[in-house]
Amino acid sequence: MKILVTGCNGQVGWELVRCLQPLGEVVAVDRRQMDLSDLDGIRTTLKNIVPDVIVNAAAYTAVDKAEDNEVEANLINGQAPGVLATEAKQMGALLIHYSTDYIFDGKKSSPYTEDDTPNPINAYGRSKLMGEQAIQAVDVDYIILRTSWVYAARGANFLQTVLSLAQERDELSVVDNQIGAPTWARLIAESTAHVIRQSQTERSNGSFQSNLYHLTAAGETSWFGFAQAIVEQARRMPDHSLMLNEIRPIPTEDYPTPALRPMNSCLATAALEKHLRLRMPSWSTALQLCLAEYR
Ligand SMILES: NC(=O)c1ccc[n+]([C@@H]2O[C@H](COP(=O)([O-])OP(=O)(O)OC[C@H]3O[C@@H](n4cnc5c(N)ncnc54)[C@H](OP(=O)(O)O)[C@@H]3O)[C@@H](O)[C@H]2O)c1
Repeated sequence: MKILVTGCNGQVGWELVRCLQPLGEVVAVDRRQMDLSDLDGIRTTLKNIVPDVIVNAAAYTAVDKAEDNEVEANLINGQAPGVLATEAKQMGALLIHYSTDYIFDGKKSSPYTEDDTPNPINAYGRSKLMGEQAIQAVDVDYIILRTSWVYAARGANFLQTVLSLAQERDELSVVDNQIGAPTWARLIAESTAHVIRQSQTERSNGSFQSNLYHLTAAGETSWFGFAQAIVEQARRMPDHSLMLNEIRPIPTEDYPTPALRPMNSCLATAALEKHLRLRMPSWSTALQLCLAEYR
């Protein structure tokens, strides 16, 4: 089985390239080798590679910048997935794609299920919803995995920001009224490996059904709670150089950003867990495992 991974230097892409190795030949491409803003280039590259599975981990993920660059975000997150889907259909490949909690408006008071109606409140969310719909409009074998609050031991993310600020500052203020599930990129990649294996088995016995699932760590917290857990766990590391004494909870209104964020980002994962017979670990267990890689 030949598996193409786009966005191989991103948080999820990097982990995918490692976790998918036992499944077959992994062809990893970065933006230079496959630029998702070049739709003809995507078609040409796919025709050269002819993968059995396409895992699209590339995306325009700069949520605030997307407010001013919606055309580019729509091209990469909205149109390119449709081209990947059309090409995948032509070559009989399975398409795995990632989407986001930001396709919801965050007004629900319990975790969102796959049946809830999307209503994005920022440009990034609108572009990602466009991508989901572009794939669903093509009669291709696909699995879309919506995830949230992704972090990893490498790359630019909330974990890295908190760790570096905690080495420089005495005090930090973090938003405490947006809730969600921080999700380690490794968990996404390992779960994706299960999705691919099961999907390919089902495709070969005729029982496969394209679907969209929520995939996050279990439990929920706020950005403030996540920052507290990062610092608490990092303090237990030998030789840590954290200066931080206090993390103060602040409301979203005190930390204005160009893009609005949903207040509730929690996604219910029961459907995926049932389908794959998996159990998602809690976000704090996954954080502990990720931080252990710093030692
Ligand atoms: N990060 C989150 O909190 C979060 C939350 C929910 C869902 N997701 C979704 O999860 C998936 C993986 O996200 P991630 O966190 O791994 O993102 P990431 O770390 O920002 O990685 C995205 C990758 O996409 C690449 N990319 C950007 N524009 C491209 C283009 N025009 N052509 C080709 N590659 C391009 C980037 O390349 P460069 O390195 O060259 O920029 C980067 O390697 C995405 O679909 C994202 O929307 C992420």
